[in-house]
Amino acid sequence: MPVKSTEYALSISGLTKTYGDVIAVNDLSIDIYQGETLGFFGPNGAGKTTTVNVICGLLAADAGEVSIHCKSLVDDYHQCKRLLGFCPQEVVFWEALTCMEQLTSVGRFYDLDNKTTRARANKLLEVMRLVDQRNRLGGTLAGGMKRRLNIALALVHEPLVLILDEPQAGLDSRGEVAGGLLTRPPGVYPSERGCPAHCKNLWRSGKRQVHDGGRIL
Ligand SMILES: Nc1ncnc2c1ncn2[C@@H]1O[C@H](COP(=O)(O)OP(=O)(O)OP(=O)(O)O)[C@@H](O)[C@H]1O
Ligand SMILES: [Mg+2]
Repeated sequence: MPVKSTEYALSISGLTKTYGDVIAVNDLSIDIYQGETLGFFGPNGAGKTTTVNVICGLLAADAGEVSIHCKSLVDDYHQCKRLLGFCPQEVVFWEALTCMEQLTSVGRFYDLDNKTTRARANKLLEVMRLVDQRNRLGGTLAGGMKRRLNIALALVHEPLVLILDEPQAGLDSRGEVAGGLLTRPPGVYPSERGCPAHCKNLWRSGKRQVHDGGRIL
């Protein structure tokens, strides 16, 4: 088991988010220590993506607070963004760039030097079983490869907290990607389908919460 620190990696308190009449997230509170993993389960429409989009600063909450390593998401937004890695539910990347170009572009966004960026990119291509695809354009990759690249893009800046929305989506039944993520940062991993066999490693040391109708059950 990971050693717990007294510092929360991620703390959510009283989070509420509505869309018109729809209460997507209702007074949600979660604390995650360094080294912990949280699996976040619930049916379609339970509010999982809304929750992680608020944590990542993509959506503003109606009420509640989010802090990353004791920094307020609202007050220290840019610092929090650097501490977070996020792989969204839908694949988001550049179709016309190669895998290597995409990884190095993200490194530049985070002001990493070229040597560091290339070393991390090579390591991530290896961990995500994409070495043979390094010079292929994103748009020509198979669906699961796109997903693996998207996860790699979330890790280039070595975030302290990793958030994967539907972490198993598109991944094949081999465990290597999940195994590679065992070196992952702590974080939230929302999933609609529960815990398929090939993600067991990913979830092995994690906590689980079931989420529905905007509430933890
Ligand atoms: N942009 C939006 N505008 C209006 N309603 C929205 C919007 N995004 C989400 N919702 C609603 O908020 C609720 C929660 O949606 P959300 O996408 O967070 O669920 P989810 O748990 O991630 O579902 P899934 O398992 O399908 O990914 C749903 O009722 C959804 O219709
Ligand atoms: Mg979702």
